[in-house]
Amino acid sequence: MSLHDSLLFLRGFLRNHAAVGSVTPTSQHAARALSSRYAAALSTTTRPLHVLEAGAGTGPVSAVLVEMLRPGDALTLVEREPRFAQRLRERFAHRGVDIRAQSVTDLHASAQFDFIVCSIPFRALPAADVRAILDHFGALLRPGGELSFLEYIGGPFLRRNAARLLHNREAHDNAIAIDRLIAADAARLEFKCDVVLCNLPPTRIRHWRKTAQA
Ligand SMILES: C[S@@+](CC[C@H](N)C(=O)[O-])C[C@H]1O[C@@H](n2cnc3c(N)ncnc32)[C@H](O)[C@@H]1O
Repeated sequence: MSLHDSLLFLRGFLRNHAAVGSVTPTSQHAARALSSRYAAALSTTTRPLHVLEAGAGTGPVSAVLVEMLRPGDALTLVEREPRFAQRLRERFAHRGVDIRAQSVTDLHASAQFDFIVCSIPFRALPAADVRAILDHFGALLRPGGELSFLEYIGGPFLRRNAARLLHNREAHDNAIAIDRLIAADAARLEFKCDVVLCNLPPTRIRHWRKTAQA
């Protein structure tokens, strides 16, 4: 990741810290863990695969995905911050990547994906938005499709307790609501969780699979 992209990312954070959720882009290690389910599928299927990255930022995870694409596979990047989306176009449009400057919840559910990779900062959003994004991912994934997303280790604990110490009832209730909805979905869908310490902050990559009933 270039200095230019790191500064662009930092400026994006200063403009909208809730939606961007981090001062630094995702590390190479975390990007590889987020992309690992698609990487694994490359050796088990010759079928063309369609991958979605939600919240692509300035593209550290996209760069790893783009390098893995086979002829016939497709990659869609969705990023709501227009300046980041413009940077994604500069970096990846010439590689045949489909780049959308919009919220992922506005992506039409007729598109069906084998893999969704996501680093949207769920814990910084209202619980209703997290529910809407996860439900939309359910609609966008094929049965058997997989979602891999990133969570900062200790982030949920810190948010809950900071809100409690600051007597911010609304933030505390929101943190609890997100804990509950993620735990309920994880109980049905999670099949793997990777810990990546080489990221700022250290992170957990959670992998969920859409079942036929989900
Ligand atoms: C923590 S940053 C990660 C960026 C990049 N993927 C990386 O790994 O460095 C989260 C990104 O998600 C984007 N984002 C947040 N909510 C979104 C939404 N509903 N739809 C699309 N992008 C969203 C933000 O603008 C931000 O660029």
